[in-house]
Amino acid sequence: MLAIDLSGRVALVTGAGRGIGFAIASVLRDCGARVVINDRGADEADRAAAALGSGTIALAGDIADEDVCDALPGRCVAAAGRYDILVNNAGVAAQMRRTVKQSLADWQRTMDVNVRGTFLMSRAAARHFTAARSGCIVNIASVAGLGAIPASNDYSVSKAAIAMMTRTMAADLGRVGVRVNCVAPGFCDAPMLHGLLAGDAEAAEANRRRIPLGRFGEPAEIGHAVAFLCSDLARYMTGAVVAVDGGWLANGGA
Ligand SMILES: NC(=O)c1ccc[n+]([C@@H]2O[C@H](COP(=O)([O-])OP(=O)(O)OC[C@H]3O[C@@H](n4cnc5c(N)ncnc54)[C@H](O)[C@@H]3O)[C@@H](O)[C@H]2O)c1
Repeated sequence: MLAIDLSGRVALVTGAGRGIGFAIASVLRDCGARVVINDRGADEADRAAAALGSGTIALAGDIADEDVCDALPGRCVAAAGRYDILVNNAGVAAQMRRTVKQSLADWQRTMDVNVRGTFLMSRAAARHFTAARSGCIVNIASVAGLGAIPASNDYSVSKAAIAMMTRTMAADLGRVGVRVNCVAPGFCDAPMLHGLLAGDAEAAEANRRRIPLGRFGEPAEIGHAVAFLCSDLARYMTGAVVAVDGGWLANGGA
């Protein structure tokens, strides 16, 4: 029987203190990987690592900070013995606002975490993986980066950049044995969506109605796609951007 087997590998998941990142970390652990939880705050990272059980390691740090990102591969090897998989999950979104009402500070903050953070973490991992001539990166974008969401300029642009960074880095790194892929989640029952739709039951229902599978995604369902992309079953996949969205993008209907 074919199975997703990540035993013997060490996977670092950014922003894994809660939500989709925590679910990804949990699925990777269930597939046999040793998991390293990154989050901005030490409390969040420690709590999540404790919840996942023995063998899970917490390495806190802000992924928008170049020094933090450059140090993480070494910290990961020191704590877990190796570093094989990076999942760039940490992300933020400014409050939904039409472009004419969006502040540069809000727009820039989203770029700093989502684009700069993904770049810095990926560059540091790529240096380590290139020396090892193996490794794998999975980026978490969003359907918002593949089709525009109104009042979400900062977020949609940042996620489109992550989809393209997946392709540029896949093209860069394929010949040294490093694969780079991307999962673009649709609307998921997770804190970011709850925050954006807070108090707007009508918008939540309109978005749910557009989903052919009829419901929001569960965070673990994003983890399943990530685990597959990290595994040897996906060994001929690189540069792919895979929507996990219940069919939201495919649906051209009302
Ligand atoms: N929830 C959804 O419906 C949805 C849909 C599509 C894509 N996504 C993407 O999935 C990812 C996770 O979403 P979520 O709903 O779990 O969000 P969330 O807000 O619950 O979790 C994000 C985590 O990232 C951490 N983080 C933020 N900035 C950081 C930084 N600078 N350094 C380190 N950690 C940082 C936060 O502390 C938090 O724990 C994000 O990239 C998001 O854009 C979410």
